[in-house]
Amino acid sequence: MSDVQGDEAAVREWREAAGDDGLVLLDGFHALKHALRFGADVRMVVADEPDAVRALARELAPDVEADVARLVRGAALKTLLPRVHPTGVAALAVRPDRARGLAGLGRMPRPAPVVVLDNPRNLGNVGAVVRLAAGFGATGVVTRGDLDPWHPNVVRAGAGLHYATTVERITLDTLPPGPLYALDPEGEYIRSLTLPDDALLAFGSERHGISPELRARADHLVSLPMRPQVSSYNLATSVAMTLFHWGGPRETGQEVVQ
Ligand SMILES: C[S@@+](CC[C@H](N)C(=O)[O-])C[C@H]1O[C@@H](n2cnc3c(N)ncnc32)[C@H](O)[C@@H]1O
Repeated sequence: MSDVQGDEAAVREWREAAGDDGLVLLDGFHALKHALRFGADVRMVVADEPDAVRALARELAPDVEADVARLVRGAALKTLLPRVHPTGVAALAVRPDRARGLAGLGRMPRPAPVVVLDNPRNLGNVGAVVRLAAGFGATGVVTRGDLDPWHPNVVRAGAGLHYATTVERITLDTLPPGPLYALDPEGEYIRSLTLPDDALLAFGSERHGISPELRARADHLVSLPMRPQVSSYNLATSVAMTLFHWGGPRETGQEVVQ
């Protein structure tokens, strides 16, 4: 009896909260684990089988097991979500404050580059880039254009790692400071360059490449190694190669897993 009442309360609270623009859907255990690990303010966690999610946390993420155990409540996910993640768990977390994010991106000296995506179109690509930026310890990912980098499908593709870096939408006027390296197949060969820690690393849209406005602002155009007759690489793989060339996490107090 009390379980059923608990479920009903959780369903009602989820429905009320889910319309709130300030909350972000975390779909699945992996996203929840990363969000908790990187300090997200997680407001609700619902699961078809809370005990199974507690067991998953014990097995895969003992560092956040206590948080998962405290937060998770039972609810039939298929009544709350259009698509239920195979791990049977979903959560709502607070979207970080935009002004604070922008202020952090503008702070110099900067210990690691900011990735700039110039009018990206593919939500999965943007999520993959956030995941890369988090893994490499980049300062952040900023996007120009109308795509919301916190769209639920971007957060899904980013595996909840939006909370491990800074992710914001910007305009040309609010582009963070720093030398601008725009990646373009016509640019200077990347292996002849060192990418500085305070760099802005800019990548063009999937269809049109770097926009004329951003190209005009670039201090360097940079190309990745590529055989003749191949036109270009995928956006997210280009970001991966460039961050790898920059160098990745340094000994800055963050533990580096090798
Ligand atoms: C799918 S590509 C864009 C292709 C687009 N049709 C064009 O004309 O540039 C997306 C972005 O990845 C980066 N990129 C892809 N291949 C690259 C290469 N060989 N060298 C440098 N950047 C590359 C660029 O920033 C590019 O704008």
